[in-house]
Amino acid sequence: MNTSASAMITQFAETNGYSPEGVWSAPGRVNLIGEHTDYNEGFVLPFAIDRRTRAAVGLRNDGVIRVTSTFDNTSAEFELAALDAARTAGEIVGWSAYPLGVAWALGEHGADLASVTGVDILIDSTVPVGAGLSSSAAIESSVALALNDLWNLGFSREKLAQVGQLAENDVVGAPTGIMDQSASLLGATDSAVFLDCRSLEANVVPLGLAAAELSILVIDTRVSHSHATGGYAERRAACETGAAAMGASSLRDVSVSDLDRAHELLDDVTYRRVRHVVTENQRVLDTVRVLREEGPLALGALLDESHVSMRDDFEISIPELDLAVETARGAGAIGARMTGGGFGGAAIALVPHALVSEVATAVRTAFAEAGFGEPVTFTVTPSRGAERMSTAELDG
Ligand code: GLA
Repeated sequence: MNTSASAMITQFAETNGYSPEGVWSAPGRVNLIGEHTDYNEGFVLPFAIDRRTRAAVGLRNDGVIRVTSTFDNTSAEFELAALDAARTAGEIVGWSAYPLGVAWALGEHGADLASVTGVDILIDSTVPVGAGLSSSAAIESSVALALNDLWNLGFSREKLAQVGQLAENDVVGAPTGIMDQSASLLGATDSAVFLDCRSLEANVVPLGLAAAELSILVIDTRVSHSHATGGYAERRAACETGAAAMGASSLRDVSVSDLDRAHELLDDVTYRRVRHVVTENQRVLDTVRVLREEGPLALGALLDESHVSMRDDFEISIPELDLAVETARGAGAIGARMTGGGFGGAAIALVPHALVSEVATAVRTAFAEAGFGEPVTFTVTPSRGAERMSTAELDG
């Protein structure tokens, strides 16, 4: 939905009978490069996008948390102090697992859920669901920042990212890493977040897309995926097997020069899984260096190599993503790759401003010719991370 902030406040008042304390917003993300490296304690380079989730939050005078949304008619309500029992009993289901999971995870990180004020939360989002753009992390990050402010917890943004990840892992049930929440909380205009997923040290790296007259075109295949089931967990397990066989605590400790030894020790599939992660970590480091030394026009080969590695070694691409990448390249993109966890979702292409509509049209035509469902294409702009909306924005 794209409800205006004032319409959200009206809906909140109609639903709850009083006005919210404020509205917090958090972006979805696109990963420029560094895929399936986060849970291997490696490097990632995502950026926050200009599609955001907003959470209008008000205080109740009891210990209850109640969540509603602008996109469906459901609501979920629990005693905050009983969230842990509800989680254990599997009673937290559907999209409400994201905001409720965050409240629970804040408790796991030290908030005293038996003494904080109750809250009403209304969620609205313009981050497309299922496109691999982390609509879930956007909800988690907006709610985490709101509750951190309203409950005076004083947690850092890095810690709030861990809170969101814990909600996703233990309440939603998806064994994902720390990348999405970090991008949503730490992003900055025209910049990417270079994150070391071992130390959690984050640095903002200017992308310089505007100056180079480059756009990021998202090609959403509309093939849906879920990281709570299937392939994602299997890939994660293969990485752990590979690291253990190499005598390493994680693949972060395996480098490109160890790959010959990995080839001797591992079966073919595990070797290729390991090779993807190890080379992808190196590509993130190379991308940061190329951005600093040469700028974004020089990134094409790294993006293309990343896609090939995910297609052939990690095997998480699908024909629609491969076609999107190949067609975008053929029509003038500087580089292209699938982005996110894979098995569906979106590809990104780095495209000169002047060629955006040509590339989008070429991809749509190629999909029609291949008999694939029509993709959705749109550009995204690297944007600022989560924030409380100002009074001026709320009035506007
Ligand atoms: C999903 C997960 C992230 C990350 C990516 C793959 O988006 O949520 O933690 O593992 O897949 O890079």
